[in-house]
Amino acid sequence: MESPVVLPSAALVLVSSPTPPSPVTIIVKPGGPYVVQGSVAIRDREGNALQPPLPKVPGTVKLCACGHSKTHPFCDGTHKTLRDASVPTTPSPADR
Ligand code: FES
Repeated sequence: MESPVVLPSAALVLVSSPTPPSPVTIIVKPGGPYVVQGSVAIRDREGNALQPPLPKVPGTVKLCACGHSKTHPFCDGTHKTLRDASVPTTPSPADR
């Protein structure tokens, strides 16, 4: 990693990276979570970092889309116990 470049005002610090960041992908699982793939930071409204649970697939974070997780905003698998009618689903292209 290169040294940061501090501008004269010291209000902004630029850090160059040898490799560009990889793009983030979000996969919407019908009736399930939003699966985020890529390097992301999850923060609460005050800006505090939230630590996601260890993922089954490295480099992924599952965000609850059903609203029933006890570890919100992260998915805890509760959506699997809900009846289909109570879980939001992604509209099909024909519905848009
Ligand atoms: S989407 Fe999994 S608990 Fe809500």
